[in-house]
Amino acid sequence: MSANFVALAYLLASVLVILALKGLSSPASARRGNLYGMLGMGIAIVVTLQLSSVQNYVWIFVALGMGAAIGGSVARKIPMTHMPQLVAFMHSLVGLAAVLIAVSALYDPASYGISTHDGALAMASRIELFLGTFIGAITFTASLVAFAKLQGLVSGQPVVFAGQHLLNLLLGIIMIVSGIIFCVDQSWLAFLVMLGIALLLGVLLIIPIGGADMPVIVSMLNSYSGWAAAGIGFTLMNHMLIVAGALVGSSGAILSYIMCKAMNRSLFNVLLGGFGAEVGSSSNNAAQVDRPYKSGAAADAGFLLANARSVVIVPGYGLAVARAQHALKEMVESLMAKGVTVKFAIHPVAGRMPGHMNVLLAEADIPYDIVFEMDEINSEFADTDVALIIGANDVTNPAAKTDPSSPIYGMPILEVNRAQHVLVIKRSMAVGYAGLDNDLFYMDKTMMIFADAKKACEEIIQALD
Ligand code: TAP
Repeated sequence: MSANFVALAYLLASVLVILALKGLSSPASARRGNLYGMLGMGIAIVVTLQLSSVQNYVWIFVALGMGAAIGGSVARKIPMTHMPQLVAFMHSLVGLAAVLIAVSALYDPASYGISTHDGALAMASRIELFLGTFIGAITFTASLVAFAKLQGLVSGQPVVFAGQHLLNLLLGIIMIVSGIIFCVDQSWLAFLVMLGIALLLGVLLIIPIGGADMPVIVSMLNSYSGWAAAGIGFTLMNHMLIVAGALVGSSGAILSYIMCKAMNRSLFNVLLGGFGAEVGSSSNNAAQVDRPYKSGAAADAGFLLANARSVVIVPGYGLAVARAQHALKEMVESLMAKGVTVKFAIHPVAGRMPGHMNVLLAEADIPYDIVFEMDEINSEFADTDVALIIGANDVTNPAAKTDPSSPIYGMPILEVNRAQHVLVIKRSMAVGYAGLDNDLFYMDKTMMIFADAKKACEEIIQALD
């Protein structure tokens, strides 16, 4: 295969990966985006396998087969609510791959075509290996800790100790100095010290971060894994890997920024940790304060909804837990058939991963043109008859606007409290992910419907009929 053909095929694959990212930016085009991504990756794999430097197909196909079998089976079984930990685990594999490629390139530079005439590595290759290795190693162990925290294998509470930041700084300096020594003399010792410290730093950087900040961290690790892949792309002189790695790196960084903005946190503040210590992820705790609230039955909700002109539905994590999206779709159709205008309001961090609610609504074939982002719909709540909150909590908490002492103060919320009536479907008065009581539940205009979201939707459909 000529070098020009390979370059052209990689260019095509890169364009397809860019189109994939563009497609994934809207639910309407997300499926198409995924197809572009798969096609781009398919082209990249086939072209890479044709390169003259690839000589042993047996191990490659064994690895491809094993990867496809494990990946396919996990993807089929994994519940949507466990997606963040799966993503964290996958990032750890990207980091590990970057480290292993760097180790083998250092062991035998000639087989990668990166040795100079005396068998040593060129300075540029040493720098690339240094960057790819330490970013990959930090990504590997940090992602494993994130996975363990999200999966509940270890406590999600931040682990904080005196002198932690100083220790991290010292280790960071030793790691960089070892990397520089490696770049100067290509010594294995300096490389291994740098690698060991990077692995340790991955753990130390993640343990002080609380559960509430984990999604931002997973997205940051996504970014790191992209940069590690790009670094290795330079080592292997593979343009496709450089482009794909840089795209993953930059899109992960942008996503982290968007999530921080949606939670009103600075990235610096997230990285230094501690937030989860105050707020925890104790979704089973009942609210601490004994205050009066109104509750009703699904039939009462059905009556109120049927007599409304406009209803805005706010889905949250509980919708995913209850897998209530299909029942919800039926309820929406029933309301629309009665002439009620129904819209959906999506908070950027509703649920447990970016786009969580959009994925659920798309799964139930809810039309995209009635689904609105927070900024688009917040001004409409004042003219809305009923705001129907299904399994959401933190993203509607007015304390974020009114209580400067609240840990979520400043976080933009869906202003459902401005609607004429508020209906909240959840199982109890338990707090949400941030572990905070929600003033919305105690307002005069609010009626709590205590039920599993799916069951409540089904009962409301019956009441509407
Ligand atoms: P939460 O504040 O976590 O509230 C979800 C509510 O759903 C809970 O209060 C729970 O109350 C209820 N629920 C659970 N299972 C239910 C079921 N089967 N039926 C009905 N209700 C059920 O969710 P949210 O409003 O979507 O906010 C998301 C929170 O997670 C934010 O704090 C956000 O910062 C954080 N976070 C977001 C992400 C991303 S990227 N989306 C990732 C991680 C964390 P009951 O137990 O009383 O039913």
